[in-house]
Amino acid sequence: MFFTKKNPLKWRDIISINDLSKDDIIYLLQQAAKLERYNPRIITDKVIASLFFEPSTRTRLSFDAAVKRLGGQVIGFDNIETTSLKKGESFKDTIKMIEQYADVIVIRHPKEGSAQLAADISHIPVINAGDGSNQHPTQTLVDLYTIKKEKGKLEGLTVGFLGDLKFGRTVHSLANALGLFGVNIVFIAPKGLEMPTEYLKELNEKNVNYSQTSDLLSVAQSLDVLYVTRIQEERFKNRKDYKRVAGSYTINKDLLANFRQDVLVMHPLPRLEEINQDVDDTQNQGYFKQAGNAVAVRKAILATVLGRV
Ligand code: NCD
Repeated sequence: MFFTKKNPLKWRDIISINDLSKDDIIYLLQQAAKLERYNPRIITDKVIASLFFEPSTRTRLSFDAAVKRLGGQVIGFDNIETTSLKKGESFKDTIKMIEQYADVIVIRHPKEGSAQLAADISHIPVINAGDGSNQHPTQTLVDLYTIKKEKGKLEGLTVGFLGDLKFGRTVHSLANALGLFGVNIVFIAPKGLEMPTEYLKELNEKNVNYSQTSDLLSVAQSLDVLYVTRIQEERFKNRKDYKRVAGSYTINKDLLANFRQDVLVMHPLPRLEEINQDVDDTQNQGYFKQAGNAVAVRKAILATVLGRV
């Protein structure tokens, strides 16, 4: 499936998964496979600006680790309280300045569209590490890499998305990418948290094979992968709406007996009660593997965008 070709992403922004063609994605996954157990010091002259306007553990730290593994340097913040944004400095001014200090910007922001805005302002490449409930393209690359590695292929698989499909940006990005690879999708959501119509429209336009249900057990036997998500409490306008759906699904070892023996249970993490800890020691656990693969994939993204592969 994978073949080597010229780096198609040098100096390009990665804002939405839709910015990447199937060949671009294959190229990145191929580079990640090469870099998984190998740390060439290929960005020793590069500075990466890591701008996190919203909480993060895995995304920020795996980007940091990726930079350091490749010999580069990181500057940035993970708390705007310690920056001049706190004094009222504008987003535009912040980006205008940072583009002169670094070679690439990695940005996470609570507002949809802010990564694109940074890219419009900046002359250096911008990588979106999550913009509100919109997109999270680098997580998608991690997810694709993990599915391919664990299942040996993408084509022809059936992937079920369970949980907050309305606000979950990892779902919005991944569904589009899976469509490129001929994966069948089943959306399983509690009432009120279904996949928004704008994203379904995109899938329709691309002829992606998908179905929707609120009954997990009715589709359990059809799934190669069960991708579980957290209810995105921070995106609810109304606390009562959150309370209504909080804790409405939990995957545990007993429930897994209804699924195929080799179903891969994924989750971008953090998890709350949607996956019980008794799944951690089963052969189905895929979420810590995802978290681990994040470093290889982010090494590939940085090396590619910086033109070092
Ligand atoms: C996700 C995110 O931030 O969108 N986490 C991650 O990046 N691994 C999922 C979430 O917060 O629920």
